[in-house]
Amino acid sequence: MTTSSAPGKVYLFGEHAVVYGEPAVPCAVGRRARVTAERRDDGRVRVEASDLSLDGFAITYGGDLDEADVNVPSGLVEAATGYVDGAVDQARDAAGEPDAGFTVTIESDIPLGAGLGSSAAVVVAGIDAATRELGVELPPEELADRAYQVEHEVQEGQASRADTFCSAMGGAVRVEGDDCRRIPDAPELPFVIGYDGGAGNTGELVANVRGLREQYTFAADTVEAIGDIVRTGEHALENDDVEEVGRLMNFNHGLLSALGVSSRSLDTMVWAARDAGAMGAKLTGAGGGGCIVALDTSEGARTALDYTPGCEEAFRAELDTDGVRAE
Ligand code: MEV
Repeated sequence: MTTSSAPGKVYLFGEHAVVYGEPAVPCAVGRRARVTAERRDDGRVRVEASDLSLDGFAITYGGDLDEADVNVPSGLVEAATGYVDGAVDQARDAAGEPDAGFTVTIESDIPLGAGLGSSAAVVVAGIDAATRELGVELPPEELADRAYQVEHEVQEGQASRADTFCSAMGGAVRVEGDDCRRIPDAPELPFVIGYDGGAGNTGELVANVRGLREQYTFAADTVEAIGDIVRTGEHALENDDVEEVGRLMNFNHGLLSALGVSSRSLDTMVWAARDAGAMGAKLTGAGGGGCIVALDTSEGARTALDYTPGCEEAFRAELDTDGVRAE
């Protein structure tokens, strides 16, 4: 039995635009998905998930979803099993054991589909746990690459390398197309996260932005402008100018809103954090619902979010410099 964990992340800048080759800066945060893989002899895969912001489900399958014991929406289960299936296939391929079966247990304190990179963390930790269960240890760069292949397939070709690279490597990273690297000296970033209890459909949101970008030059320009914000933000990070980082986050949120991926609850939380003195606040991830990230050294934004209607949970998060690791 082998257990690995990998962190979730917030986007300081650049989600959506990163899908079209613009740079993005995601940062790993101290909320993790833990995946345990135990080899089984019948070649099948059993998935047990107790805490994916779902009620808990257990499924055994050998390709199709059968013997399901499920009391959650089938779309979420299919997505979760799609990621686990992909992770298992990658582990089988890496270890040269195409018929290996596993019982996979997932425990996660990253809300599902809420912009904190839950699927990337599950896939990265899942590939690591399953390969190590088969006696093979992969470097984090290869784990990131294999996890990206899984996300790319499950999200029907609409995924960047940002989430999976960040989860595998930890810390603050920069991703531009296939060029992925860590940002070595990121300043202390006082993250506060607000969660509305909801989730967005990443595939649908990405497809909507793609449609707008194809239909309107100004939407394509908006995507490029997000790239400009990221490049400017990188200088602010290099200069430890956290206030400028906050201003640029605000700008980034405005452009994401223009692209239609914010929501009333995300906007409400963003404004609550700003009104309470945050240096900046924006949605994180695909949007449509889920989480916002704010920068605030005081307790103001977190307290304000606690009292904001529609905010289910507000918490402080630290940059997690550890990527995937054995538990
Ligand atoms: C989703 O967490 C981030 C997006 O940019 C999609 C991706 O990069 O794969 C919306």
